Amino acid sequence: MAALRLTSTALRATTRSYAYGVRGFATSSLRLGAVEGVDRISVIGAGQMGLGIALVAARHASLPVTLIDSSETSITKAISFISKLLDKDVSKSRLTESQAGEIKARITTSTDINDVSTSDFIIEAVPEIVELKLKIFKQLAEVAKPTAVLATNTSSISITKIAAAAGDAADRVISTHFMNPVPIQSGVEIITALQTSPQTLTTSISLCKALNKIPSKSADTPGFLANRILMPYINEAIICLESGIGTKEDIDAIMKNGTNVPMGPLTLADFIGLDTCLAIMKVLHEDTGDSKYRPSVLLQRMVDAGWVGKKCGRGFYEYSK
Ligand SMILES: NC(=O)c1ccc[n+]([C@@H]2O[C@H](COP(=O)([O-])OP(=O)(O)OC[C@H]3O[C@@H](n4cnc5c(N)ncnc54)[C@H](O)[C@@H]3O)[C@@H](O)[C@H]2O)c1
Repeated sequence: MAALRLTSTALRATTRSYAYGVRGFATSSLRLGAVEGVDRISVIGAGQMGLGIALVAARHASLPVTLIDSSETSITKAISFISKLLDKDVSKSRLTESQAGEIKARITTSTDINDVSTSDFIIEAVPEIVELKLKIFKQLAEVAKPTAVLATNTSSISITKIAAAAGDAADRVISTHFMNPVPIQSGVEIITALQTSPQTLTTSISLCKALNKIPSKSADTPGFLANRILMPYINEAIICLESGIGTKEDIDAIMKNGTNVPMGPLTLADFIGLDTCLAIMKVLHEDTGDSKYRPSVLLQRMVDAGWVGKKCGRGFYEYSK
């Protein structure tokens, strides 16, 4: 019973606020404290995670942020979403208009990765594709300040492998694994590579705290802690759907109403992104060699169809864009 209660609580914490919507924050707008040696940060990837990280950095740590994405469209969408979140907080009197304006003004955008060169802390949040992340960390080692921390938001890929791609900068590579939606979820999983220096770890923990987050450590194993527990649950729900054990509505209903999580696993998968879920399952499967992590065929087919969830308007459910 105790174990059951724990599981339910853990899932609730993990899934509590995936209903991102435009909820705004209920937290203080005051600066939480400076981090020694960190005067500017860069975030690479302006998708759902990157935009959230940029926002909390500009808001809670009052840091100037360079938000970088290879796609102009992603940048435009990110800035528009950040504005909506801030407007919501102004309408709820959580921020004044002038505070919201100052936060927005701290975020500048770019499509050029070379613009990380003035940042002291860089957080990569591009899609969960091993080769892409390795390429970016190789580039970061060349163009970032020689003292900058190079953090990844990967959900599952080995931090040690990513650090190796950074060559001589490997000791400055770490994972700060923010949870979705970033402005609301307080936990951040910190994972060190074999190469990570103690100084990199200390700075990363301080930055997470300055961003109003609660860091906790996980080992550099496939999926770390959060996704090693969460993704097999989601994958099993998809296997139940493809096996005809229940409809999508019934699967979501029994888990939502029966385990007191805010949404069922299929809705949750749509919010995370089915491409991201599949990528994580593949890492779990390939890196452990354990068949219990085999991604469901239906998950693969949904991604093949381009139905990757809320971000594209269609996953297990349909969403207005
Ligand atoms: N979605 C989640 O719930 C979640 C939770 C925790 C961690 N993560 C991890 O965070 C990372 C990002 O996930 P996301 O959900 O924000 O993805 P996303 O698809 O919403 O956004 C990724 C962004 O990266 C951009 N991009 C692609 N290639 C690029 C490049 N070469 N240079 C710069 N930008 C590039 C894309 O244009 C896109 O805007 C992944 O590693 C994912 O596993 C995701």
